[in-house]
Amino acid sequence: MVAPTTTATPSPAVGRLAAVQEMARLQRLLFEVEREFVRTATTLIYRVGEPELKFLLCQHVWESAGHARFLRERGRELSGFGTSDDVRDSLRRIFNEAVMPADATVALAGFYRVLKPALLAGYRHYLHVTDPLADWPSKKLVEEFIVDEERHAAEMAPFLPVATSVSEWISHLTTALADLGGFLGESVRIPLPSSFTFESATRRYAHPPTCNRGKYPVCSSVFSLDPAETPIVRSWLVDPQTDARVIRLMVYVWLMMELDAVDYLATIFYDTPDAPFDLHHDLARHLWDESRHSQFGYRQLPKLGVDLMTLEHSLDLYNILVQMPPHERYAMMTMEFEAGSFPTKALVMDRIRELSDFEADTLLAFDRNDEQNHVRYGHRWLPEIMALGGETRPVEEFVKATQEKFKQLAAIHGGRTPHSLPPAQRLTGEKILQLAK
Ligand SMILES: [Fe+2]
Ligand SMILES: [Fe+2]
Repeated sequence: MVAPTTTATPSPAVGRLAAVQEMARLQRLLFEVEREFVRTATTLIYRVGEPELKFLLCQHVWESAGHARFLRERGRELSGFGTSDDVRDSLRRIFNEAVMPADATVALAGFYRVLKPALLAGYRHYLHVTDPLADWPSKKLVEEFIVDEERHAAEMAPFLPVATSVSEWISHLTTALADLGGFLGESVRIPLPSSFTFESATRRYAHPPTCNRGKYPVCSSVFSLDPAETPIVRSWLVDPQTDARVIRLMVYVWLMMELDAVDYLATIFYDTPDAPFDLHHDLARHLWDESRHSQFGYRQLPKLGVDLMTLEHSLDLYNILVQMPPHERYAMMTMEFEAGSFPTKALVMDRIRELSDFEADTLLAFDRNDEQNHVRYGHRWLPEIMALGGETRPVEEFVKATQEKFKQLAAIHGGRTPHSLPPAQRLTGEKILQLAK
């Protein structure tokens, strides 16, 4: 049989690098899957209530961002990887579907019982089909990522619901993925049944109006001037007469409450699907830093005698910021809350040093260093995230207007979370005074 003359003859140059291009194609898919995981698994963070689970998700998201970055770096050394950060629609559709369950536990199961195992299968497939000598650099990376993915599965296992309780959703996502034949197309494709409907095609995902803190008591804010009301008394923080042990307890409460930064920062990824990957990479780092800062308080406070069930979690910042578009959330976070926190934190650090508490000094020093980086990220990325949101005003003018808008929204959406606990039961400034003695 004679080939029709319209068939394109592959150029010799393409043919010579075919083996490289095939591996670059697979790496490209892996890169896109990892970056989509970062974009969408972050929606779990503010929807689950257990702080340990929030911390773990932040860690996995950060590690996934690292995988994506190394894949892109290696991929770009190979012919055919491509220069853009774009994600193909067929993959994006799967991840957009994964966020849809109204119950966060069901969504978590979809990510960790279907999508993460499929990613691990993809990495194993890559290792199986690549030449161990020719593609040594990718092979070494993928070997490490497999170890990470296996660890992620083990770390998440205690938080997952039993498979039978979420079997319907698992089978729904599995069916969607089978249509691709796995993330790398390494399995036989099973086309979608005609009855299959993507939930993401019928309704839009929206962030919940408040974040989930599970079994913990909540309130609007942990800051006030009233020691009978809240654990952090603003005037005491900067008063040279305040006992340094009181300041230490208050700053650990402050750090633990950075869980609100974890929750509202986590909303920005999903809302910026067209962001360059480097923006999401730095946001993932920022997110993981905040989760570590929150852990500073969460792990130290019980050692200083605080029962965490008496410490109310503040919800105001999430509740107000989620009413704003993502570029305004990011502007408030980096240009207002973070940039504005340095003078007070500096005073606090000097007072803590009186205690010769090496651990507290170390935690605060790393917190300060991280926060300096966050403000740097803000200067780097705010103009880009503004552009993604269609914002054309100069940065300074936009930040000023956003600060004003925040005040107005705070009057409507702030202060709406009543104390879960009566004053006698909750941690307050007065209780901190007693604990410090
Ligand atoms: Fe922080
Ligand atoms: Fe920060």
